[in-house]
Amino acid sequence: MVRLYISRLRLVLLSAFAFGLNASAPVPALASDNSPALIPAVQQIEMKAGQFHLNRQTKIFASDMVAKENAQLLSVAVQKILGVSLPVMLGKPTAQEQNFVQFLSIQTFAPSEAYNLVSDTKSLRITATAAGQFYALQTLLQLLPLHKQAVIDLPAMEINDTPRFAWRGMHLDVGRHMFSVDFIKKLLDQMAALKLNTFHWHLTEDQGWRIQIKQYPKLTQVGAWRKETTKDRHYEPYIGDGVPYGGFYTQEQIKEVVAYAQRLHIMVVPEIELPGHSQAALAAYPELACTPGPFAVATNWGVFEDIYCPTEPTFTFLENVLTEVMALFPAPYIHIGGDEAPKTRWKASAQAQAVMQREGLKNEEQLQSYFIRRVEKFINSKGKRLIGWDEILEGGLAPNATVMSWRGEEGGIAAAKEGHDVIMTPTSWCYFDAGQGPAEQELWQLGGEITLEKVYSYNPVPKVLDESQQSHIRGVQANIWTEYLPTSAHVEYMVFPRLLAMAEVAWTPQDRRNFADFEHRVQNYYPRLDQAKIAYRIPRPLGLDTPVQIGKEWQWTLTAPVKDSKMFYTLDGSEPSPSPKGKLYRKTLAVKKDAAAVLKVLTVLPDGRVSAVQVAGIPKPAAQASTQK
Ligand code: ACM
Repeated sequence: MVRLYISRLRLVLLSAFAFGLNASAPVPALASDNSPALIPAVQQIEMKAGQFHLNRQTKIFASDMVAKENAQLLSVAVQKILGVSLPVMLGKPTAQEQNFVQFLSIQTFAPSEAYNLVSDTKSLRITATAAGQFYALQTLLQLLPLHKQAVIDLPAMEINDTPRFAWRGMHLDVGRHMFSVDFIKKLLDQMAALKLNTFHWHLTEDQGWRIQIKQYPKLTQVGAWRKETTKDRHYEPYIGDGVPYGGFYTQEQIKEVVAYAQRLHIMVVPEIELPGHSQAALAAYPELACTPGPFAVATNWGVFEDIYCPTEPTFTFLENVLTEVMALFPAPYIHIGGDEAPKTRWKASAQAQAVMQREGLKNEEQLQSYFIRRVEKFINSKGKRLIGWDEILEGGLAPNATVMSWRGEEGGIAAAKEGHDVIMTPTSWCYFDAGQGPAEQELWQLGGEITLEKVYSYNPVPKVLDESQQSHIRGVQANIWTEYLPTSAHVEYMVFPRLLAMAEVAWTPQDRRNFADFEHRVQNYYPRLDQAKIAYRIPRPLGLDTPVQIGKEWQWTLTAPVKDSKMFYTLDGSEPSPSPKGKLYRKTLAVKKDAAAVLKVLTVLPDGRVSAVQVAGIPKPAAQASTQK
């Protein structure tokens, strides 16, 4: 069959035609190759001549009940735009049908998350498994306009898409700060839109135990509550805020989140930390420690020396806890933490030393390895797989464990060489508690700097691995630690837009990735985040880092980083303020080269949200570009 490729020029003309003659029905925004601006970028797309016009007469067909579920999600989304509900019909369209969308289920499409989407002037057809159809739907949803229209024009095209990695994750620490079920659902919705499929739920910490365990009620009666929280960063010397803090998820709430995630094809992996980061559990059950206690739920951040003692009562406790946890989470994985467990108490404990002697263990690292192996054996006996942070390599890796490499990539590389599966989450690219720009120009951050570009630059497959070792890199994940993120708005700021970059790292083939193109597509994505009421970090105005030198002047021509937002500036070093007092940016700003001027800009979104002040220094002599990189 002859494929019809559409030329660049033709598409530009087509777009102009669509905008000019039918302003209410623009074609979707375009990426730099003139294909629709999607995040994550698809594996393969061919643009063709013509458009499919989805309108009130369009019929939706579903080949079976699985397809019907996906088709109905489209019908609901389209109703918001067209104002009518398009019926979903079970069955296939006749050959005469002229205007339809079809969801066609197949059972043997490999790998199972792949999909094929074909649109022409008459129809839009999706062929895939249930998960693949769901991802085709997410692609399609990104092509829909955000506002009411009579007709939705979609380009004729064929997409063949499949994820690069099986594990496309986001982690959330709810121990340091806790977030509502509604907020978690909101995050899951965003993850699904970006084709992420794994939610790693960090449920237990020194500062709070957040999951109801019926056999051990004190875990939440005592362990879920702390007396107060460190005020700002006053941990040394310590100053508390004096405000009691706590909460937990009931088993019913956990089930609700898991079921919600399942509908979004997201696996929820619970993390129950052991043997360290367990001070909240020890506050509830001090007999599980090597020293008598008492212990308090931690009120400050850090790594604590009081950890579970490797005794029989501890293993019984953990097995009982894990049994309840496994019943709540259908995921094949249980994350057991394993990180940051100081051995101080074990070294001084006669009980711990006796276990080492009994088991013939040479040091406390081997004792940790024994601890993890025992827990793994139990988890495996229940048909589940253990995953842990890369410290589980120390003293010998448990036989079937999957390693989450966070202290760089070395742990992941070592594990893959030993034939273990690996999830890459190295701090330098994947820790979303770091700032997204220079600290003084951020609303908040924990420390360090991981820009959108840095996240995007990550390639989770280390070159030092051979092909068979590389196949053990199962995926990649962003981690959200919440010491300094007390509210959902803080979390949203840290997660977005960086999660968009992580989604593309996780989904899109490496050779299809290009940051400049991605950045352009991100601009197009902000209105979707606005519609979902996500308090994302408002990016720097475009052009702030690229002043041009004209004669004796530096000139900045700025573009608002988000559509319909306004920029306010100062040039005298004072803080810009939004209207009515502030100076609204209207046209190119010029500054004499030798003037001591500082350009400061803030951006105000249509909804009133204000960015952090962004600063562009005058470039040093001879530097044509920014001082801000
Ligand atoms: C970790 O960041 N402690 C896994």
